Amino acid sequence: MSFVLQPLPESLLSAAVELDQMVLGGFWSLQSYQEELSRASSDLLGLWAVPQLEHPPLLAVGCAWTILDEAHIILMAVHPRYRRQGFGFGMLLKLLDLARHRGMKYATLEVRASNEAAIALYTKLGFTSVGKRPKYYADNGEDALVMWRSGLHLPEFGEQIEADWVVAQSRWQYI
Ligand SMILES: CC(C)(COP(=O)(O)OP(=O)(O)OC[C@H]1O[C@@H](n2cnc3c(N)ncnc32)[C@H](O)[C@@H]1OP(=O)(O)O)[C@@H](O)C(=O)NCCC(=O)NCCS
Repeated sequence: MSFVLQPLPESLLSAAVELDQMVLGGFWSLQSYQEELSRASSDLLGLWAVPQLEHPPLLAVGCAWTILDEAHIILMAVHPRYRRQGFGFGMLLKLLDLARHRGMKYATLEVRASNEAAIALYTKLGFTSVGKRPKYYADNGEDALVMWRSGLHLPEFGEQIEADWVVAQSRWQYI
């Protein structure tokens, strides 16, 4: 089995909504996903198997917005059955690479303070915690950590992405 990580095709929009509902509790509706596809400042990516699986048709989804010289990582979700295999890492790498090619210098995001898996993933790619938004999440009043990564435009970051991409793909070839 091989894997494709590319802009989300329209044919996988409903699969993205399904994955979103399962993993994020319904962050975006079908209409929101459709709008992202046509928004010039948005990179909405999907990751799927080839040949495509029936269950699940989509293994991961991720989205970043570009605002001035910052990439905002808005959404990251990996199907529970396919975690800890480097797909989240690959998704984040690709979003940062696209941001770099768009001329972004910084990347930022908010994450629940208790979300150890996501924080570990972001830390692995050089994000550090720069602040807190108290009671940011309405459902349980949890704080958000604000994480930040600079240097997207530096040549060494491009080299790091290339090297990390080779490692990520070599992991996927044994799945
Ligand atoms: C966070 C999430 C996207 C990670 O996806 P994933 O595909 O499992 O992550 P990866 O396998 O690529 O892991 C990359 C690194 O992240 C860290 N990591 C990932 N899951 C982890 C966990 N459960 N515990 C500790 N570290 C973890 C590790 O450093 C890992 O590197 P390693 O594989 O060399 O150990 C996934 O758990 C998820 O979809 N969670 C629910 C949605 C969510 O929290 N989204 C982010 C909101 S801000």
